[in-house]
Amino acid sequence: MGFALVSSIVVLTLFFRSNFGQQQDQPIPNTDGFFISEFFRQMGSNIYNISGPVCSWQGVLCDANQENVIGLMASNLGLSGSIPDNTIGKLTKLQSLDLSSNQITDLPSDFWSLGLLKSLNLSHNNISMNLPSNIGNFGSLERLDLSFNSFYGSLPDSIGSISSLQVVNLGRNRFDSTVPLGITSCHLLTSVDFSMNNFSGVLPDGFGSSFPNLKRLNLAGNEIIGKGSDFVKLESLTYLNVSENLFQGSVVEIFQEPLEVVDLSGNHFEGHISQLNFGSRLVYLDLSDNEISGDFFANLSRTRNLKHLNLAKNRFLEQRLINVDSLRGLEYLNLSDTNLIGRVSDEISSLTHLKTLDLSRNHLTGKIPLLSLKTLKNLDLSFNNLTGEIPISVLKKLPWMERFNFSYNNLTLCDSGFSLETVQSAFIGSLNSCPIAANPNLLKAKSHSHKGLELALVLTVSIVFLLGVLLFCAFGCRKKTQMWVVKQDSYKEEQVMSGPFSFQTDSTTWVADVKVATLVPVVIFEKPLLNFTFSDLLSATSNFDRGTLLAEGRFGPVYRGFLPGGIHVAVKVLVHGSTMTDQEAARELEYLGRIKHPNLVPLTGYCLAGEQRIAIYDYMENGNLHNLLHDLPLGVRTTEDWSSDTWEVDANNDNGIQNAGSEGLLTTWQFRHKVALGTARALAFLHHGCSPPIIHRDVKASSVYLDYNLEPRLSDFGLSKIFGNDLEDEITRGSRGYIPPEFVNQDGSSSPYVITPKSDVYGFGVILFELITGKKPVDDEYPDDSFSKDANLVSWVRGLVRKNRGSEIIDPKIRETGAEGQMVEALKIGYLCTADLPAKRPRMQQVVGLLKDLEQL
Ligand SMILES: *[C@@H]1O[C@H](CO)[C@@H](O)[C@H](O)[C@H]1NC(C)=O
Ligand SMILES: *[C@@H]1O[C@H](CO)[C@@H](O)[C@H](O)[C@H]1NC(C)=O
Ligand SMILES: *[C@@H]1O[C@H](CO)[C@@H](O)[C@H](O)[C@H]1NC(C)=O
Ligand SMILES: *[C@@H]1O[C@H](CO)[C@@H](O)[C@H](O)[C@H]1NC(C)=O
Ligand SMILES: *[C@@H]1O[C@H](CO)[C@@H](O)[C@H](O)[C@H]1NC(C)=O
Ligand SMILES: *[C@@H]1O[C@H](CO)[C@@H](O)[C@H](O)[C@H]1NC(C)=O
Ligand SMILES: *[C@@H]1O[C@H](CO)[C@@H](O)[C@H](O)[C@H]1NC(C)=O
Ligand SMILES: *[C@@H]1O[C@H](CO)[C@@H](O)[C@H](O)[C@H]1NC(C)=O
Ligand SMILES: *[C@@H]1O[C@H](CO)[C@@H](O)[C@H](O)[C@H]1NC(C)=O
Ligand SMILES: *[C@@H]1O[C@H](CO)[C@@H](O)[C@H](O)[C@H]1NC(C)=O
Repeated sequence: MGFALVSSIVVLTLFFRSNFGQQQDQPIPNTDGFFISEFFRQMGSNIYNISGPVCSWQGVLCDANQENVIGLMASNLGLSGSIPDNTIGKLTKLQSLDLSSNQITDLPSDFWSLGLLKSLNLSHNNISMNLPSNIGNFGSLERLDLSFNSFYGSLPDSIGSISSLQVVNLGRNRFDSTVPLGITSCHLLTSVDFSMNNFSGVLPDGFGSSFPNLKRLNLAGNEIIGKGSDFVKLESLTYLNVSENLFQGSVVEIFQEPLEVVDLSGNHFEGHISQLNFGSRLVYLDLSDNEISGDFFANLSRTRNLKHLNLAKNRFLEQRLINVDSLRGLEYLNLSDTNLIGRVSDEISSLTHLKTLDLSRNHLTGKIPLLSLKTLKNLDLSFNNLTGEIPISVLKKLPWMERFNFSYNNLTLCDSGFSLETVQSAFIGSLNSCPIAANPNLLKAKSHSHKGLELALVLTVSIVFLLGVLLFCAFGCRKKTQMWVVKQDSYKEEQVMSGPFSFQTDSTTWVADVKVATLVPVVIFEKPLLNFTFSDLLSATSNFDRGTLLAEGRFGPVYRGFLPGGIHVAVKVLVHGSTMTDQEAARELEYLGRIKHPNLVPLTGYCLAGEQRIAIYDYMENGNLHNLLHDLPLGVRTTEDWSSDTWEVDANNDNGIQNAGSEGLLTTWQFRHKVALGTARALAFLHHGCSPPIIHRDVKASSVYLDYNLEPRLSDFGLSKIFGNDLEDEITRGSRGYIPPEFVNQDGSSSPYVITPKSDVYGFGVILFELITGKKPVDDEYPDDSFSKDANLVSWVRGLVRKNRGSEIIDPKIRETGAEGQMVEALKIGYLCTADLPAKRPRMQQVVGLLKDLEQL
């Protein structure tokens, strides 16, 4: 008794002391909060706001107990100098650290004890040091980005102990060793960027066979002595860039079916081009400045998706410029110094998307054909033997033309339309005889006058458009009128780059109130250096052509496109307005861009085009679950045909893959189970792995996609927030067939229920029912249904599960492919998820556990 009294007094005293201590000097030393505030203080950031508990600070992510910091995002905060000891290095539980885009110069010695790091981003700083072999301590690291710094010396072999490494970017540093053998132990790598360093020597033995998942490999701008066969076993590779190195030997082995972007320029590759097996996915091919020979036109017809082709400066045979019309998708064609002879045929005008044409330094003869390449921006015909007149009047009609060069030919410039003064100053002494070879200076002057012409054109069209808008509004803004259609067509004709732009789909018309398309940036998170603009989105989607429409979702239309560099994307226009300001929307989208999970469709970037928020996603090759499960076409059906002059028509091969997928994929229980589990994991991550939790609000089969590797991925998370609360109920509450009962009153009107993660759980339950029964959530046949009046999937399945008759409703397609017991149990999980009372539904973490347990049945 006495002892108990004494000990409770001790405890109380301690309690008071520690509380008192806390009040005196907050935050308490030796806590994560202290280390972080010290870090910001000593790194001289004055924009960081430290008040309240550490877990509430901007950019700080804590574990579930709110005790330890597991994530710190401090990108672009003006931090400078060397990181002191006893700051970041003491955050022992840290898993994710982003200090990119600051002016950090050095790392502390205790930095290498952060053994739990999964993601480390130090890119775009000014760190100048030898990378110590302690890097191998980061045994859990998955993403390492040290690009744009001044790391020097050798890359330590210990990198091989990071067996979990998936993404490594060391680009733009001063590493000057060989590529270490250790790297071949990192079998999970998906993306490697060692570009713009001074790596030298040969690639380590076994390099090519070590990375079964490698998709992107960039070794450009080094002194690596490699050969084509180094890459033969990289079977997942889609992007290969080894430009400006010392590669040599045969180029033939490099080409394999999945490749999309290949840049081999500036090496010593050899080989006969007719032996190259270009895959049909190829979008970008640069073989310039090598020693490749042969006759290239014969085999290029397979590359129907090609947009960028550079074969300049090789050892090709004399050949004529024919059969180019099989390359209709091309935007860039560079055949400079490729031994072309004969005339430039009219066929060249069939390349209707061409922006750059370089045929310089060849032996072309004859007259310049009347080019009708409306999209042309850059034309170089210099150093040939062309004769006749330069078709200036034709060039003047090309609306985008910026730069051209006819120098060093045998051309005449008679009907220039220039003032006598200009011609005299540019062609001194040859006024009366038409001048031999156009003078580059004159063409520059010409270019200016052309700008005036372009401006006039833009003005005219803008005025026409303004009148159109006025008329349209006068007739009432709700009705669709011809006016918009007329505008859209004229827009296509003239390629005008000044807005506002209007676009039409079957169900909506949307307007991007953008003044100058080239001034509205498109942010691509992983490629901050590519200055994409709204005009790139326009050309990626053929001006938001209906032919590129993938779907018309709740938020608005979704288009498919290729951004320059072969970035394959789905472009989602959130047309229904938003209550957020531009800054808020940008911040939210940047935040969503950082949310990564193997079962989420990554947000690649965004664009704020006037009122429209445009979200850009990685393209999902294998379509969405709704279409796959219910055997619908994979794209949206539009009234028009797929427009015949875009690369879309050439996607036969993709369709082949997709169709094969839609027939064969979802016919096994095993695969449907995988889809269910992946989707559950994605939701569990959003609900329990993100802080604050993200509620999806629109969980449905058409939000679940299958990627290139047939992994299920959930899309559209976080978008509802960007819309704010102004929306019609239907939009905030979910899609038909997936709306949980708490949102619907007895009379069918919507009820003001607060959205919780449990409404997502309900949507997931419906998907699970779809996966097992193969039925749609509404408007399907539900045999043997006693509530036939307003029958839907949920009431039907729940009724039968209650009567223990679950086994009767399993989709016949999968019945034989797995254990019936598992499927019946899965129906019961769906039953739990679709409980009427939200509180009775399990949490998504529990659902993941339940679904995993099925495998043991
Ligand atoms: C810092 O954060 C606190 C709480 O989040 C807020 O009240 C305060 O206004 C912020 N100060 C600045 C300068 O942003
Ligand atoms: C980077 O560091 C070097 C010294 O190592 C210094 O000369 C240079 O100015 C720094 N650059 C920036 C952008 O801070
Ligand atoms: C790259 O390394 C080579 C030797 O391997 C050296 O000769 C060259 O000067 C280095 N280049 C740079 C830019 O450091
Ligand atoms: C290859 O890498 C170099 C250096 O980073 C870059 O300049 C070039 O644009 C890349 N090529 C492609 C096709 O991405
Ligand atoms: C290239 O074209 C030639 C002639 O048409 C043909 O014999 C050869 O098989 C083709 N090569 C490839 C790799 O398709
Ligand atoms: C064509 O390729 C050559 C060699 O790579 C390059 O020097 C030239 O600038 C390119 N032309 C254009 C118009 O891009
Ligand atoms: C152009 O033609 C002349 C005469 O036929 C010839 O001497 C010259 O080599 C040719 N130039 C080129 C670049 O083909
Ligand atoms: C240039 O063209 C004229 C005819 O247009 C021809 O008489 C002359 O020989 C040509 N010169 C060369 C070098 O080919
Ligand atoms: C045209 O090409 C010549 C030769 O390469 C070059 O000197 C000149 O600057 C170029 N002119 C323009 C306008 O690009
Ligand atoms: C690192 O940060 C930069 C700039 O914030 C970003 O562009 C890049 O994608 C990040 N790297 C990785 C691997 O996430």
